[in-house]
Amino acid sequence: MKIDFANLQTQYQKYKLDIDASIHSVLKQSNYIMGDQVKQLEGELSLFTGAKFTITCSNGSDALLLALMAIDIKPGDEIITTPFTFISTAESIASLKAKPIFVDIERDTFNIDANQIEAVITEKTKAIMPVSLFGQPADMQVIQNIAQTHNLKVIIDGAQSFGSKYNDKMDSNLGDISITSFFPSKPFGCYGDGGAVFTNNQEYAEKIKMLRVHGQDKRYYYKYLGIGGRLDTIQAAILKAKLPYFKNELIERENIAKKYKELIKNDIEIPIVKSNRTTSWGQYTIRVKNRDNVQKILKDKNIPTAIYYPIPLHLQECFKYLNHKENNFSVAEETSKCVLSLPMNAFLTEDNISYIAKTLNDI
Ligand SMILES: Cc1ncc(COP(=O)(O)O)c(C=O)c1O
Repeated sequence: MKIDFANLQTQYQKYKLDIDASIHSVLKQSNYIMGDQVKQLEGELSLFTGAKFTITCSNGSDALLLALMAIDIKPGDEIITTPFTFISTAESIASLKAKPIFVDIERDTFNIDANQIEAVITEKTKAIMPVSLFGQPADMQVIQNIAQTHNLKVIIDGAQSFGSKYNDKMDSNLGDISITSFFPSKPFGCYGDGGAVFTNNQEYAEKIKMLRVHGQDKRYYYKYLGIGGRLDTIQAAILKAKLPYFKNELIERENIAKKYKELIKNDIEIPIVKSNRTTSWGQYTIRVKNRDNVQKILKDKNIPTAIYYPIPLHLQECFKYLNHKENNFSVAEETSKCVLSLPMNAFLTEDNISYIAKTLNDI
């Protein structure tokens, strides 16, 4: 049996006619940079998410940077975030010479422990940046209340969670600014690099649009120092062709998660989703003892897995200057030693899932 982790091949074959036609429309028009398809996609994404403004961009990492630049983050400012995430989350903060302030995670959701946030707020704190890790939003109610009380902005790193909801509201429409990534293996991916920034704030939206093209106000007049952060028209065209299928993919991913839950036996810790949230299942991540051994056995049986993430950010060499030590964020550290992500994509068959579950159960 051949099992694919993200299965982009099958996805392309299923939507090929639409995707090819959409790409060809760009080739015919040769409007490769900021073509009509980019604007059209932004309108469609706003309709999908409920966020008033969508500004697409080059990737999720740049989307984070654009969000922080929009709220005017300056050197020395502090942003509270999680150490258990992809590097871009904290990298975006540090690359503006601001300081990532880490808070440990909840064991069950893998997300920032909102109840520990208030303790690290100082007069330098400007924003809270929760990550909807593996798809599930963090405890946004508590985070929004803290932000309101302390006059902080909330920037959601929703790189892995496009389509997820908290209290029935899309993850992309929950923060002062939210972002996502269209990296190919993300729940809603393009076929290269891509990302988007979402906001309901017109001032931020206008600023982000300028920041995306080097801070350009009108042609060759630069109001801000920005970045070269546009989304290619071809990628926009691919996303436009894929969007009508995405709702169904979300349902399929949920069905697959349900089947995993049904079939994986009790002593393996499967992911827990809180009752007021949905997840687009950016990853299906379990906790196992003896991870190396489990991963090897699965690999030998042709089951691909991945480790997100083996080292939390506070222990990464690039953040040595923050002077964190082992045991500073013990839940994140313990988690990074035992997480294992199983194949998750809308095209896994019942046989695939049964085989994966049985192989795991037999270890
Ligand atoms: C949590 C998180 N933030 C940010 C990013 C960055 O997105 P991109 O790879 O599109 O730059 C990713 C991508 O892996 C991510 O998982």
